[in-house]
Amino acid sequence: MTEAPKKLYIKTYGCQMNVYDSERMAEAMGGQGYEQVDSPEGADMILLNTCHIREKAAEKVYSELGRYKPLKVANPDLKIGVAGCVAQAEGEEILRRQPMVDLVVGPQSYHRLPELERQARAGGKALDTDFPEEMKFDHLPQRPKPKRGPTAFLTVQEGCDKFCAFCVVPYTRGAEVSRPVSRILREAEGLVEQGVREITLLGQNVNAYHGEEGSETWGLARLIRRLAEIDGLDRIRFTTSHPRDMDDDLIAAHGDCDKLMPYLHLPVQSGSDRILKRMNRGHTAEDYIRLVERIRAARPDILMSGDFIVGFPEETEEDFLATMALVEEVGYGQCFSFKYSSRPGTPAAERPLVDPAEADDRLQRLQALLTRQQRAAQDAMVGREVGVLVEKAGRLPGQVVGKSDHLHAVHMVANLAPGSLVRARITESAPNSLAGTLV
Ligand code: SAH
Ligand code: SF4
Ligand code: F3S
Repeated sequence: MTEAPKKLYIKTYGCQMNVYDSERMAEAMGGQGYEQVDSPEGADMILLNTCHIREKAAEKVYSELGRYKPLKVANPDLKIGVAGCVAQAEGEEILRRQPMVDLVVGPQSYHRLPELERQARAGGKALDTDFPEEMKFDHLPQRPKPKRGPTAFLTVQEGCDKFCAFCVVPYTRGAEVSRPVSRILREAEGLVEQGVREITLLGQNVNAYHGEEGSETWGLARLIRRLAEIDGLDRIRFTTSHPRDMDDDLIAAHGDCDKLMPYLHLPVQSGSDRILKRMNRGHTAEDYIRLVERIRAARPDILMSGDFIVGFPEETEEDFLATMALVEEVGYGQCFSFKYSSRPGTPAAERPLVDPAEADDRLQRLQALLTRQQRAAQDAMVGREVGVLVEKAGRLPGQVVGKSDHLHAVHMVANLAPGSLVRARITESAPNSLAGTLV
């Protein structure tokens, strides 16, 4: 007789890499007899995969942990683990502050999760926040779970050596590491065999990718061109890029690789050279604008996306207006903007803060501009014919939803299975999605 599977509940915060990591952790625990469930009630193990990028991230984790107390009381065998960037940043402190936690595992040690779980089951506390030499997923038995939809993430690079003055990532994810080409190809082929038609390559600094292939080192563009040779893989995306690592070959790939989608997330953070310098971004506003021009020369209809921080220490109104001017000049199709949040341990944390009311006001003004641009980019799609990859049924009967080449959500009334890649004419632009008809 086989034992009933144990239940694993994972709650994921933060970036796409955490989503990918959570899937891999679920697979690793699958080998330990765990099956992933959608709710913490009745689970044998709860894992929080946390993010430390902004705000009181650690506080949120502690309050979420507090909510699991009744579950732990009802089932003393329940094991609770904290993974992700808060686990890396707080480490042992989590075990001290919240005795309910059995296991703390940093983002570079997930391949050790099964062993840590055994340690916790044996009644001990398990902690691993090392940065081991070996790359985590290349040391896990590959036993992928069936994919649920036609799109997938695939981590190709992890960590960051840029040390922007505001950012915790170089500390929580460690130094930049690239996975070998052959591993990535094998994983991509496996995904396509399971029906995946679109892969988004992930890395904290994905365009700094430099993976080994025999005695050679491949950049991201070469990897993308090789992936594009896989039959059945129709779309390739990548995120997140740094302006300094956008090399000629990658720009050219946007023009000559049909499977590379016309959407690029290229954060600039600020339009003021003074602030860019203090942020340690390593480029000027002008460098960025010229770069976008070159990318658009290669792929004129590319939709640009970005990230912005307002209220960085010592940002003046003039600095802020330079950011607004950069946004006007570039013209974004989508953007994420944040109020600066001081992160302990980063260089900027020592510097004088901008008045919070002033920072709020700047954020509102920037967001109003970005929302107008986003809407304009969407409205400009009306009347155009675009590719749509159907992902699932829509909310209304007979409706399906998918993503356009430019990553807009598109609703259509059509009888199409998830995974269908079709041409659609855009008929309508709503605040957060488009409507289209099948061509
Ligand atoms: N590797 C990516 C960024 C990852 S973090 C890159 O270099 O672009 C995602 C975004 O969070 C950043 O682009 C930045 O806009 C924002 N962010 C990071 N640290 C922040 C902080 N301390 N306060 C506010 N926003 C921050
Ligand atoms: Fe953070 Fe800068 Fe590295 Fe991006 S490039 S992860 S913002 S340090
Ligand atoms: Fe957050 Fe860590 Fe990703 S801090 S954004 S989960 S790299």
